[in-house]
Amino acid sequence: MSHLLPLSRVAKLINQPRHKLQEVIRSGLLATFDGMVELDELLRMFPDVKWDDDAEFRRVQEIKDKAFAKRVYENVLPDKEVLAARLTELGDEYAAARTLLLHYGNVMAWLDEKIDEFDEEASAETHHALHSVRAFLLRNLAEMPPDALLAQAAIAQERILKVMSAHVTIQPSGHEFIVEGNDTLLDAALRNGISLNYGCSNGNCGECKARLVSGEVKKVRAYDYMMKQADKDAGVILLCAYAPVNDVVIETNVEGAHAIPVQQISAKVKSVEIFNPQMAALHILTPRSQRLRYLGGQSIEVSIDGGRGRYAIASCPCEDRNIELQIPHRPGDVLADAVFTALKAGDTVALEGPFGEFVLDEDSPRPVIFLAFGIGFAPIKSLVQHAMSLELAESIDLHWVADEAGHYQDNLCRTWADALDNFNYVPHAQPDDLDAVLEAIVLDYPDLHRFDVYAAGTAAQLDRARAHFVRQGLPEVRWFAGAIDA
Ligand code: FES
Repeated sequence: MSHLLPLSRVAKLINQPRHKLQEVIRSGLLATFDGMVELDELLRMFPDVKWDDDAEFRRVQEIKDKAFAKRVYENVLPDKEVLAARLTELGDEYAAARTLLLHYGNVMAWLDEKIDEFDEEASAETHHALHSVRAFLLRNLAEMPPDALLAQAAIAQERILKVMSAHVTIQPSGHEFIVEGNDTLLDAALRNGISLNYGCSNGNCGECKARLVSGEVKKVRAYDYMMKQADKDAGVILLCAYAPVNDVVIETNVEGAHAIPVQQISAKVKSVEIFNPQMAALHILTPRSQRLRYLGGQSIEVSIDGGRGRYAIASCPCEDRNIELQIPHRPGDVLADAVFTALKAGDTVALEGPFGEFVLDEDSPRPVIFLAFGIGFAPIKSLVQHAMSLELAESIDLHWVADEAGHYQDNLCRTWADALDNFNYVPHAQPDDLDAVLEAIVLDYPDLHRFDVYAAGTAAQLDRARAHFVRQGLPEVRWFAGAIDA
């Protein structure tokens, strides 16, 4: 019987990002069956994978975690009831496999006896045939096929992954993600950059309702929301209160930018990070019960005593309650003055948003070029991280054309480039001649018609960049621009 594995788990097993696996599938080299891959096919396609060595995957995951998903390490084990249910399921599978083996052993012993019985009255020809059959069976039972150890290692790893995590498919969008540790379905979806409808995230509002289509879930957080009997009967659950026991399919909407409501949140300053005299990052923590829903590339309005401004969010929606804004130090800007001189951890800031539709086209599998002009790096950083968490693009190139604030997060970009083999970072010094820089960039892409380009900068910079990219062959509809204030 073939052993089928879901794609997301396969990507983890072979230590490759999902988009790489999808490339292989798109090219027709690896067959899938309803989003599943056969183990034999997998072993044929990736004969060199070391099933007991996940060092490379861990290295990438560590960088990704450090860069944008702050996992709490004491929470890496699943909830104890979920763990118990998964172990019970694994025990049942083991018992069934062992019973089947015992049965095969009994059949073999019976066959052995029968051959002896027939042999007593058999002709010389039948005697020879019976002994050949017995020798064939014994030899094949004693000798494992050459790739059996490989299959055993792959199945062992997959079983461990199945105990520690569960695979989720969302209908009708087709999004997939893995729930690890003691995350709820909502936590895990957000950590994977998937924008679901939710409100309080602690079981009060009912906005995270979704229908369980298949699989089993367990309640891992208490909740006060009163679920109607009709909803219960239809299999509706709260995503913020349930975790999957095994692989599940849920039915809910993945929201686009236009469907996310403007929210007002009173949040706290977590820290201020001064990059240089022109640029600082304001790190904000939203309340546990009121996280900000937004998509990578969107903006929010921030107010503190006497100061207010709209800024592109520089963090990823996958960062849970953590929001980063990048604040340029402009003369006469009260909010920027406060950030650079007075604001400290624990101070209150009022947030309103999100705004804007400069967001990823999640349906596009095309390679992506991100182009940041100066402080346009903030929304681009958010989009890059969001694209990474969704594992969307087959490759990501980041071009950052500096202004007087310089490449103030150069190290972070280099870390991404070191960690991810499909990520390429090209910093450009503050130019005397912007058109010359843009022309040099586009000439590096003779196949620009294949790409999506996301650019953020002033309206003037964006107009000039767009002209160069379109002239070089980029389809106009694949140009996405986010204008920022100079
Ligand atoms: S988000 Fe409010 S009940 Fe789940």
